[in-house]
Amino acid sequence: MTQDISQDKKKVVLSGIRATGNLHLGNYYGALNKFVRMQDDYDCRFFIADLHALTTHPDPAMLHSNVKSILAEYLAAGLDPEKNILYVQSDVPEISEMYLLMNMHAGIGELMRTASFKDKARKALGIAPKSGEDEEEIEKEICGNQTNKSVNAGLLTYPTLMAVDILIHHADFVPVGKDQEQHLELTRRFGRRFNSFYKTDYFHEPVNFNFGSHAVKVPGLDGSGKMGKSEGNCIYLIDDEKTLRKKVMRAVTDQGPQQPNSTPTEPIQNLFTLMELVSEPSTLQHFKQAYADCSIRYGDLKKQLAEDILKVTLPIRERILDLRDNDEYLSKVVRRGAEQAREVAAKTLREVREIMGIRKF
Ligand code: ADP
Ligand code: TRP
Repeated sequence: MTQDISQDKKKVVLSGIRATGNLHLGNYYGALNKFVRMQDDYDCRFFIADLHALTTHPDPAMLHSNVKSILAEYLAAGLDPEKNILYVQSDVPEISEMYLLMNMHAGIGELMRTASFKDKARKALGIAPKSGEDEEEIEKEICGNQTNKSVNAGLLTYPTLMAVDILIHHADFVPVGKDQEQHLELTRRFGRRFNSFYKTDYFHEPVNFNFGSHAVKVPGLDGSGKMGKSEGNCIYLIDDEKTLRKKVMRAVTDQGPQQPNSTPTEPIQNLFTLMELVSEPSTLQHFKQAYADCSIRYGDLKKQLAEDILKVTLPIRERILDLRDNDEYLSKVVRRGAEQAREVAAKTLREVREIMGIRKF
């Protein structure tokens, strides 16, 4: 699906990030930076998904501080509470009620086939990831597993809650990274199903939003795969200069190009991909050329990359440090955000209850 921004009259934008720890460059380029760039042109609502975080059982003592740090990171990256509705998911109880209602239209089979569910379920059960996976077998393992480890139903219905986050705002655009596209597809499906079941056109179909032609996938520094909290390969917005340089200098590389004009191996391509995000095009061009003619020195490449990442992250880090202990300001922002979000959510919930036939005496 592609976005149509040609004749926008302040389309509604909605997105959120789970409260599971500090934000990294993947979150920044996959999500937060897009939020910041959209705030002037769209009617934006951004939230912190603390209920979604519960699906992986965070330490209760940590949850609130994670919510707080993400809020500080949103603001530090440039989200303006005057321009956007900024709120915490659990401050809007209408979402939880609509999640219950929407679960009546979510199929267990389709939820079980969601990639993120299978990943998390395998992790919970200690089943090794498989390639060329046989879905039926995975489902059997998940359902038939007799160990005392278990897969909670919240994990299964994660996409229903995410669909409700989006549909409750009647969002047009949902800026998220590539890994969230399957959830977005389910959101559209649930909305369509609701419409057709109740013979209405109440929900329309939200799409992802990217400034380029496709969703960004920020690689990690460990040679393969994406940057992610659970992969332990992250550069965090809050990293200090020394930590950050150390991480970049330790990034996995190879023995160097073996012949001119060869295709970069994955670890090197990953460094180029990061450079494409943070560096000037001419810098990237310089190193690509050096790779092509075999004169590249990875030490120089990494030094430059660290420098350019720091240019992005250090100013944000300073603002995070300023903001994160300013409880008074942070709570003022989310209290106002909750009021605004609840107003929207309550209207949708009222209408959804009405469509579903729930009436008051
Ligand atoms: P993590 O994978 O570290 O747990 P989340 O799942 O909380 O991160 O992701 C929050 C947002 O950041 C989502 O929109 C997701 O698509 C985006 N995101 C996370 N990691 C990356 C990445 N490596 N590249 C692009 N976007 C990412
Ligand atoms: N599932 C998203 C993630 O892991 C977080 C999220 C929850 C979200 N609800 C959302 C993102 C609604 C966009 C819209 O990153």
